[in-house]
Amino acid sequence: MSCKIMPPTEENLRAACHLLQSGELLGLPTETVYGLAANARDERAVAKIYEAKGRPSFNPLIIHIRDAVQAAEYTVWHPLAQRLAEAFWPGPLTLVLKRRPESPLSLLAMAGLDSVAVRAPAHPVAREVLRQSGLPLAAPSANRSGRISPTRAHHVAEELEGRLEMVLDGGACTVGIESTIVDVQNPETPLILRPGSITPAMLEAVIGQPLELSGKKASAITAPGQMESHYAPHLPVRLQVTHPLPDEILLAFGSPPADRHPAAMLQLSETGDLLEAAANLFHHLRAADRPGYRGIAVMPIPEEGLGIAINDRLRRAAAPRP
Ligand code: TXA
Ligand code: MG
Repeated sequence: MSCKIMPPTEENLRAACHLLQSGELLGLPTETVYGLAANARDERAVAKIYEAKGRPSFNPLIIHIRDAVQAAEYTVWHPLAQRLAEAFWPGPLTLVLKRRPESPLSLLAMAGLDSVAVRAPAHPVAREVLRQSGLPLAAPSANRSGRISPTRAHHVAEELEGRLEMVLDGGACTVGIESTIVDVQNPETPLILRPGSITPAMLEAVIGQPLELSGKKASAITAPGQMESHYAPHLPVRLQVTHPLPDEILLAFGSPPADRHPAAMLQLSETGDLLEAAANLFHHLRAADRPGYRGIAVMPIPEEGLGIAINDRLRRAAAPRP
């Protein structure tokens, strides 16, 4: 699949929205950097983002929305968030809020966290795609893992050649650095997680109190997957299991052992498809984490492609907790 660079004509915008609606990826211009977008309600589409980026772990993604009204559908919205949105949206500010428990967003897009990062981009092409598709869009920067963020359509096509069908050409990004991220889960103590073109002084003028750039948290999020607060199951997790115990729940990958009878089983992917397993991972971990079982046993998953990120996440879930 060679990546087409398409001008944002009416016809191409329709084709782009159709790609998103059918669970495919789209290279999307925003005013900060180009994003690699997918329907944020579709676990499998989100899994494709991680696959295309070649990320060795599941870093939570920013959910792009049209406006504060749409943001409030997915988050525990509050007056401070509203004020920040009125001041800086659409624009290069990302707000981290608590996720609504009934939110239909993909768990994989949030790497299983109970929080969600939302942003209303200002670029007219991004706004048009959000409007026409009607979808919330999960979109990290459209670079391969470990590379710098793309600010031109041809950067995206080069980075993701063979992994992406289409990038909409929105010209050169006017901001050129990624959005400022502010954690407002607790409106009393907002925290800058990532500096950007919306400066602390600009934020302070709206918030009315000095803000801290948390060194600890900032470094924690720049290292992919190093988030302290990853979802961890209550039950102990056993990995590489070929012999599940009778009181364990088994997360199977491929054919489960015929001669063993765990208490219950959830299939990550019957056919051994890593994309499907990634899409099911956080749902199944949560579904399995019920009192009544001794623990969660997970069958071996190959350490290749998306399997690297899946295993990274599983190792975190299995790590002993303080
Ligand atoms: O300007 C931008 O923000 C661009 C454009 C495409 O919108 N996007 C971008 O995405 O920079 P990405 O994935 O490259 O960086 C997103 C950052 C990551 O460091 C991630 O850890 C953090 O946002 N993040 C996402 N959800 C989070 C959450 N719930 N809590 C804390 N950090 C979060
Ligand atoms: Mg990035």
